[in-house]
Amino acid sequence: MYARIAGTGSYLPERILTNAELETLVDTSDQWIRDRTGIAERRIAAEGQTTCDLAEQAALRAMEAAGVKPADIDLLIVGTTTPDLVFPSTACLLQHRLGLGDCGAFDINAACSGFIYALSTADQFIRAGTARTALVVGAETLTRMLDWGDRSTCVLFGDGAGAAVLVADEQPGILSTHIHANGGYADLLGTDVGVSKGFKAEERGGVRVSMRGNEVFKVAVNTLGRIVDETLAANQMQKSDIDWLIPHQANLRIIKATARKLQMSMEQVIVTVDRHGNTSAASVPLALDEAIRSGRVKRGERLLLEAFGGGFTWGAALIAY
Ligand code: ACO
Repeated sequence: MYARIAGTGSYLPERILTNAELETLVDTSDQWIRDRTGIAERRIAAEGQTTCDLAEQAALRAMEAAGVKPADIDLLIVGTTTPDLVFPSTACLLQHRLGLGDCGAFDINAACSGFIYALSTADQFIRAGTARTALVVGAETLTRMLDWGDRSTCVLFGDGAGAAVLVADEQPGILSTHIHANGGYADLLGTDVGVSKGFKAEERGGVRVSMRGNEVFKVAVNTLGRIVDETLAANQMQKSDIDWLIPHQANLRIIKATARKLQMSMEQVIVTVDRHGNTSAASVPLALDEAIRSGRVKRGERLLLEAFGGGFTWGAALIAY
């Protein structure tokens, strides 16, 4: 039994924040941001608009595309680092909003790899026969925890959500998924506040992302190169067997390095980072949905999804679409 992608959906908040506007907030330039990251603009959730609000729109679109009803869904997983609340989980909030039955529903926090982790988990449930129709979502409002005075992070991130409905099928399907983590890199990328550590809101003015970007960059490029090899080897495939690379959208230079490693032309790579920025767990499903709805990715093609993020976490999925 395989988990097949029956439909995808995504949602972006309306508000566009351009590089030109960021020039008025911090000492940066449109040229620097474009050259170093490939980002031109990103979306920002409206005041009061939460991760669950974004997830709901993406999920409704995915369910419509898949032609499934709320009662069909027997598993819901949300990849997010920016849940509405500490608890109930965003998955529980979303389950109620969508009017699903009392299916299992939980969040996965794997930072930017959250969707790949969620997809991998749902794939195991479907292969094991424990679930037949899974809704998998990546949704974030990461801009809520940015320091708008820190040019090294505030130019990088955006908000959004993407979703996929997976159904059990004898035809492939997700061919394999691969997830990894190494907590030894926690100092390079993360936040230093939280529930058990203490919110320290007064001292610090809220939760903030801190990143040693240059070091993260190098580890990301090497690690993504390795996971691409691991995924191809697990499926006894060659680089030329892959039709599309659908990467995490953190930085165009990282994406280009992975494409080079796969000997793929940029024509075979889905790029949204220019318009979305880094939407963390939402970035891969947003790119996947855009690729499918634009008609670029077609049934029968092979897709390689990959992501790298805080933790560090990283992962890949090879899909016969
Ligand atoms: N505008 C202008 N100058 C800047 C800016 C900015 N927005 N930000 C940093 N600079 C300066 C730095 O201060 C530094 O100046 P200095 O040379 O005078 O010290 C200079 O630019 C170079 O800084 P670097 O950090 O070396 O720049 P780099 O080329 O590495 O680009 C970037 C930075 C874009 C952050 C890059 O390192 C990157 O993309 N890293 C990986 C990000 C990533 O993949 N994260 C993982 C996912 S995120 C998650 O999981 C939540």
